[in-house]
Amino acid sequence: MKLEHSRRASIEKRRKESRPGPRPPAFWLHLRANDYGDHAKRAEAKAAGFQGFMQGSFMLWLKALHIIFVITWFAGLFYLPRLFVYHAALGGSDPAGAERFKIMERRLFTMMTIGAVLAILFGGATLGQVPGFMQMGWMHAKLTLVAGLIVYHFWCYRLLTAFRDNRNQHSERWYRGFNEVPTLFLFGIVILVVVKPF
Ligand code: HEM
Repeated sequence: MKLEHSRRASIEKRRKESRPGPRPPAFWLHLRANDYGDHAKRAEAKAAGFQGFMQGSFMLWLKALHIIFVITWFAGLFYLPRLFVYHAALGGSDPAGAERFKIMERRLFTMMTIGAVLAILFGGATLGQVPGFMQMGWMHAKLTLVAGLIVYHFWCYRLLTAFRDNRNQHSERWYRGFNEVPTLFLFGIVILVVVKPF
């Protein structure tokens, strides 16, 4: 406890030396604390005593929401083409079953579209906090892959409407291949954002 107190006091002393004048508001310190990996700044923000919701720093909250909605989006990107596999396997043999698939596909597409929009919005907001990422090659590569994923998303919609109007052209085997595509995007994007290879 005593140690924590003296640590905070020394942070405050360093802050006063490096930045004389009135202390910036704690809220502002938290927004600035997202300077990536800057532990001293984060400690400074904490020492300012701002508790609660914003404590982990604003950018990290945005990133957490970004990841939550990326997962929602991918749940749909993985499962909708799998429904297409089973739907195509029915052929014309089970009209009642086909109608059930149409309802499931429509609802799943709505859910995954909400996930996509929110993932992109929170991704954009995260990027807004660290604009320097836009100077980096991995971010350009990531955004290119995200554009590909958006094309895949709309392609799913076209296939959904073809099933809805009973004019599906593709085989069960074709959908099995189509179903693997999001996995490739997932590998590419996660490796780019975590490893940041260039
Ligand atoms: C327009 C769309 C998107 C934008 C603008 C965006 C932007 C960002 C930004 C700025 C970060 C912070 C990077 C960091 O802190 O190192 C981030 C993190 C992340 N993004 Fe995205 N993103 C988008 C779409 C996606 C998609 C589709 C995926 C799905 C695979 C994804 C997966 C992740 C993951 C896993 C992280 C966490 C990385 C980490 O903390 O190490 N993002 N994103």
